[in-house]
Amino acid sequence: MAQRITIFDTTLRDGEQAPGCSMTVAEKLAMAGMLVDLGVDVLEAGFPIASDGDFEAVGAIAGAVRSTRVAALARACTLDVERAARALERAASPRIHTFIATSDIHLVCKLKKSRAQALDEAVAAVELARRHVDDVEFSAEDATRTDTEYLEEVARATVGAGARTFNVPDTVGCATPDEFAGLVARIVGVVGDAAEVSVHCHNDLGLAVANSLAAIQAGARQVECTVNGIGERAGNCSLEEIVMVVKVRRDHLPYTTLIRTEKLFPASQMLSGFISFGPQPNKAIVGRNAFAHEAGIHQDGVLKERTTYEIIDPKEVGVPESRLVLGKHSGRHALGQRCDTLGFPLTREQLDAVYRRFTALADRKKGILDEEIVALVKEVVDGGAPPPAKARVEPATVRGSLGRGFAFPMRAARRLGSASR
Ligand code: KIV
Ligand code: ZN
Repeated sequence: MAQRITIFDTTLRDGEQAPGCSMTVAEKLAMAGMLVDLGVDVLEAGFPIASDGDFEAVGAIAGAVRSTRVAALARACTLDVERAARALERAASPRIHTFIATSDIHLVCKLKKSRAQALDEAVAAVELARRHVDDVEFSAEDATRTDTEYLEEVARATVGAGARTFNVPDTVGCATPDEFAGLVARIVGVVGDAAEVSVHCHNDLGLAVANSLAAIQAGARQVECTVNGIGERAGNCSLEEIVMVVKVRRDHLPYTTLIRTEKLFPASQMLSGFISFGPQPNKAIVGRNAFAHEAGIHQDGVLKERTTYEIIDPKEVGVPESRLVLGKHSGRHALGQRCDTLGFPLTREQLDAVYRRFTALADRKKGILDEEIVALVKEVVDGGAPPPAKARVEPATVRGSLGRGFAFPMRAARRLGSASR
């Protein structure tokens, strides 16, 4: 029986905190709608004490979202917890997420508090939060650099005070999967069935997804993550990656989530439209190149059987189609297919001639546009003079005959308007 993993999305809180990622209230509300459609279990809407805008956004999301738990972050102090509770007043299923740092470095250098003080404040914050809502999560910030016995004591005390989720953040992203799994297993042992153990991994060493997966295998049942992996510094565990690891490798991983994976790419696109950057081109699952193939051998393989080089059907994550990028590494097979798609079924001789021109052009420039391919076809089929470099072939110019009975199909004419992919 597959174990259910709770997906706690923090795109609108940890994600939004990162440089270049702030969103307006309207954008946060629209993104929240997308996250609900995506099927996240918990949606962390913001940090209400941080600003009036965040307070307003959490309130608006709490009022609009019915089916998904809505969380608000609060430091372990009365002011923050009360503010979070107020922002969540209209929520159908509110969660207060309160935290305090527990590592000595944070206690000594940042908070100037003793371990005992931090423990007392953590317990008091959980108790106060429980007076407002049933669903309380406690996070021990910088857990991975916290003395393990002390972390266990904090877990026992906060769960004893009423926290239903105990979160183990790798706040600075310094953990490795094996040691993180060991730590999580100890915390799972301490809290038992009294609370769900959660993890919140940052990506400073590029290990956020690996660490989250190791934690699941060690007994964590909630993963905190963000769309496109945005978040403080190098970001958080990427939602689309952890979800697809579990889905694609279900032969090996007995876990399941409620995420509607065909919404992953639309969610990524919506977020990219709201913040100041999109995912890197080679980002797993949602990057521009995640389903793109340029090398001739790869293109030939994918055209014969997609699964030779693709472990995920792009449609499964909402990517419209896999992309064969035509460039200097491409082969005849891919070029012939693109000509076909553009409306020019070529004879073998015509394809050879177009291919010779194509490779010469591809040696000089990256990523050949569809209109440039059409121009090459025109040269070969028409025997016409090469068009000026970068000339755009407009539908009106080509919507006639290419000579020798080669009628320019309407399908091709229509495509030229949106030719470059
Ligand atoms: O990284 C972190 O420790 C956090 C906590 C507030 C959960 O974001
Ligand atoms: Zn964080």
